[in-house]
Amino acid sequence: MGEHAGIPLIGDKFPDLTVQTTHGKMTIPEEFKGKWFILFSHPADFTPVCTTEFYAFQQRYPEFKALNTELIGLSVDQVFSHIKWTEWINENLDTKIEFPIIADTGEVAKRLGLVHPGSPTHTVRAVFFVDPESTVRAIMYYPAELGRNFDEFLRMIKGFQVSDKQGVAMPANWPNNELFGDDVILPPASNEEEAEKRRCMEGCLDWWLCHVPVEK
Ligand code: BEZ
Repeated sequence: MGEHAGIPLIGDKFPDLTVQTTHGKMTIPEEFKGKWFILFSHPADFTPVCTTEFYAFQQRYPEFKALNTELIGLSVDQVFSHIKWTEWINENLDTKIEFPIIADTGEVAKRLGLVHPGSPTHTVRAVFFVDPESTVRAIMYYPAELGRNFDEFLRMIKGFQVSDKQGVAMPANWPNNELFGDDVILPPASNEEEAEKRRCMEGCLDWWLCHVPVEK
């Protein structure tokens, strides 16, 4: 997709950024080339909902890794604050946060569109899904009062990976779709001959609505 100076959008390359993290200096997306990564921002360290989010994300970290997916957090806090907060989580919730957290001065947040003009020192709860070619595949924003659903993030990564491999799309609530179970959707026919074939194909309700099993 074309270059533009604004915040990254779906389909754009993730911008090149050098960031200070709890794991030292990192250059993203270069650091994660060949892997999926999820960059997520939180309003501030030592806040209750964010603490539950970090705990929940860490619990699922092995599942993300098994999907060739890395995680990286971000807030406008100093690295010392991130370290003290993750120490607290480790000591009190018996959970070591293993993924890096960006200590931002506000520059990265501004570049990625993670700050609201009304509250420039706090990042919103935003999430970027980036594929192994460094292309932004999804962006999500949540309000401060609602902790994120990390099972949905796992579902999204699984969905992207099936979609890329098989050239299909996921129906609502996949893999528990009310009509097609864990089947996936074929892209609509793009010519009359293909449309005619689809009319009598197994799994097609019509030429533009066909479902097939996930390839193993
Ligand atoms: C929290 O994580 O608990 C939180 C952060 C910012 C505003 C409100 C709640």
